[in-house]
Amino acid sequence: MKFGVVGAGRIGTIHGGNIAARKDCELVSVADADAGAARALADATGATTASVDQIMESKDVDAVAICSPTDTHADLIERAARAGKAIFCEKPIALDVGRIRNCLEVVRSTGATLMIGFNRRFDPNFAALRKRVAEGAIGRLEIVSITSRDPGPPPISYIARSGGLFRDMMIHDFDMARFILGEEPVAVSAMGSAVVDGAIGEAGDIDTAVVIMETKSGKVAQISNSRRATYGYDQRVEAHGESGMIHVGNVRETTVELGGAQGFTRDKSLNFFLDRYDAAYKIELDAFVAAVKSGAKPRPDGDDGLKANILADAAYQSWKTKQRVAIE
Ligand SMILES: NC(=O)c1ccc[n+]([C@@H]2O[C@H](COP(=O)([O-])OP(=O)(O)OC[C@H]3O[C@@H](n4cnc5c(N)ncnc54)[C@H](O)[C@@H]3O)[C@@H](O)[C@H]2O)c1
Repeated sequence: MKFGVVGAGRIGTIHGGNIAARKDCELVSVADADAGAARALADATGATTASVDQIMESKDVDAVAICSPTDTHADLIERAARAGKAIFCEKPIALDVGRIRNCLEVVRSTGATLMIGFNRRFDPNFAALRKRVAEGAIGRLEIVSITSRDPGPPPISYIARSGGLFRDMMIHDFDMARFILGEEPVAVSAMGSAVVDGAIGEAGDIDTAVVIMETKSGKVAQISNSRRATYGYDQRVEAHGESGMIHVGNVRETTVELGGAQGFTRDKSLNFFLDRYDAAYKIELDAFVAAVKSGAKPRPDGDDGLKANILADAAYQSWKTKQRVAIE
């Protein structure tokens, strides 16, 4: 499969490198608003630089990986769909649910293949947890607890364009909650504040939040987010059921443990998503390539993207109004 990558920043560099490293794929071209960023990824992978128009029009490009900022995704998905490309797009599809619905209508009418980059589904540990829950290892699932804390806040310039904590950061956790619950949440309650960095509060956002959700059958999920964790990237999931509990802990830099008179010390968690989810990004790409080759519908798809955004909107509304929000 021949790929074009749009957006050669943090995540575009990861996906571009992974595509180029595969025997069954080729990274043909890279587009970025910053010519230097496009050049750096193209040089590192043997690709050429191109404009977005050239990628969309090229007969030599089968699939497009959209890795540019969130506010460009919906337009680029539509363009790629109309151009007959298979599409891998980073989360979220857009910040506005109405815009997402319009975009998905174009995807549907063109018959395009679309996969959304909820990479955590492909993390081997989280995937194993979900598989065991689905196999009944803990009986009937009752509580899902997700802890997701970044090592430190992003620049204020990123916050301003991000859509806020619920739509930018917790969006991954909403998808994970749906993935593990196997059922749609029907109510959301959120609390949050800016206690890590006052500038985030001044920008109208929060950096600390807890959300609880429940499903029609009574399962409960809780999500804890912070833009700061002094001990590294904090990514843990626990599923509790009628006959047991499954826990996935943090992945540390090494497994070394030092014992002394003061007790035991271990390494910090892997620092951030590029390291923590290195394997997940590769497995995610495996899934996209396999789906495109076989003609199967990849997951997570546009509908998964839409539903995560609906939960994020409900959480935002709950936080703003201090009310529990029902999801239709
Ligand atoms: N799934 C994940 O783990 C994950 C991790 C990080 C980011 N993301 C998502 O990926 C997207 C990009 O995030 P990032 O952290 O890589 O950002 P980034 O700022 O590091 O990179 C974005 C790149 O896109 C370029 N760009 C901006 N406008 C463009 C346009 N119109 N056309 C082409 N290129 C353009 C920028 O010059 C920059 O090089 C965001 O939507 C973010 O939510 C997902």
